[in-house]
Amino acid sequence: MATSKSPSPLRVLTGITTSGTPHLGNYVGSIRHSVRQSVAPGVETFFFLADYHALIKVNDPALVQRSTLEIAASWLACGLDPERVTFYRQSDIPEIPELTWFLTCVTGKGLLNRAHAYKASVDKNTAKGDDPDADVSAGLFMYPVLMGADILMFNAHQVPVGRDQIQHIEMARDMGQHFNHLYGEHFTLPQALIDDAVATLPGLDGRKMSKSYGNTIPLFAPRAQLHKQIAGIVTDSRPPGEPKDTEGSALFQIYQAFADEAETAALRKAFADGIGWGDAKQLLFERIDREIAPMRERYEALLSDPARIEQTLLAGAAKARRLSQPFMVRLRHAVGLRNLGAQAARSVDKAAKGAGKPVFKQYRERDGQFYFKLLDGGGALLLQSLGFASPQDAGRAIGLLQQQGGTALGTLATQLEPLDAERAQAIAAALDRLAEDSEK
Ligand code: TRP
Repeated sequence: MATSKSPSPLRVLTGITTSGTPHLGNYVGSIRHSVRQSVAPGVETFFFLADYHALIKVNDPALVQRSTLEIAASWLACGLDPERVTFYRQSDIPEIPELTWFLTCVTGKGLLNRAHAYKASVDKNTAKGDDPDADVSAGLFMYPVLMGADILMFNAHQVPVGRDQIQHIEMARDMGQHFNHLYGEHFTLPQALIDDAVATLPGLDGRKMSKSYGNTIPLFAPRAQLHKQIAGIVTDSRPPGEPKDTEGSALFQIYQAFADEAETAALRKAFADGIGWGDAKQLLFERIDREIAPMRERYEALLSDPARIEQTLLAGAAKARRLSQPFMVRLRHAVGLRNLGAQAARSVDKAAKGAGKPVFKQYRERDGQFYFKLLDGGGALLLQSLGFASPQDAGRAIGLLQQQGGTALGTLATQLEPLDAERAQAIAAALDRLAEDSEK
């Protein structure tokens, strides 16, 4: 139901590349925190599976498919509520590659030359005496543009990322700014959100837990595997009875990421009292398992029904496209990819001096709610609103459409009956005609 909610709640967007299996580091560093944040009032959150990005790194179709399933199931098992957030798969949104192209055309090649990931590859090749671009795909080079499209498509205000991704967000800002400069204010400029309170977790070998170091513990490893892997965490060789350092202990840091303050203090004391490594590992295992076990059960149930996950993602994509479709209509219009018929109609219309102009009709339905529709000059239905709580709310929406023309279609997407691209384009043209008239 459409109500008079504020026109632009804070939008937060998170993308996860589908190129691996979620591990405890992902959970502590991102998933746990994001799921909690996603229920904050006044925030609209978007989570998506960046499977187009996965193709840049992974050439194994089975791995991409498996990873997509595992990541989707993991986020759902950890409590992400697809009713509250918009949870979708990047490749289900055809507007994203289309926007990628629009942004490609306003992005300096030099800007992309300076991207850290690309530069690192070039530096490595140069050091080896190879061609600078050896084994660099155009996909890797374009990575920041695809990511910019992900972010700008939904006009996200904030993008929570690790420090290594800050440059990508700045590039997205650049692209948005440049596009706005050329074609008018269409994009919100995003900001990176860095949360230093979020822990980075050490891996089995004490370095940061990361797939590229091969030192990860899968988030939903079966209990026995979790136990075995925890037993493999590096420690020093002090025997039981001898005090242990918490400083620099991977085991202690991992424990701390799961435990509350009292539990952490207790383990600190046990270290000082000379707890044996075997016992300390048992404590760590039990603490992690206590938090993970209920989610692991949900995860396994979800994985056993992939068709349901598919349904969830498709429903999420439909929700996302209620925004991306009308927005893309507006962007196509902005850059000049326009319906020539509509333009012809415009000049004919102008000649007729306002005869057959589109009109808004406002009315109340039996359900007690207030609605409006837009009819074309011939009386045919162009646009149908959903119900509003008050006539003022409906009036405000009409005002926005009258002032901003097609631009307002994206803003009001959740308050209108869904539109297909072609309809939206015709409406945008009609509204733009009205808006032009009202400027005179
Ligand atoms: N580049 C991100 C990563 O590797 C994944 C990603 C793709 C993303 N598109 C995004 C993150 C948009 C945030 C916003 O982690």
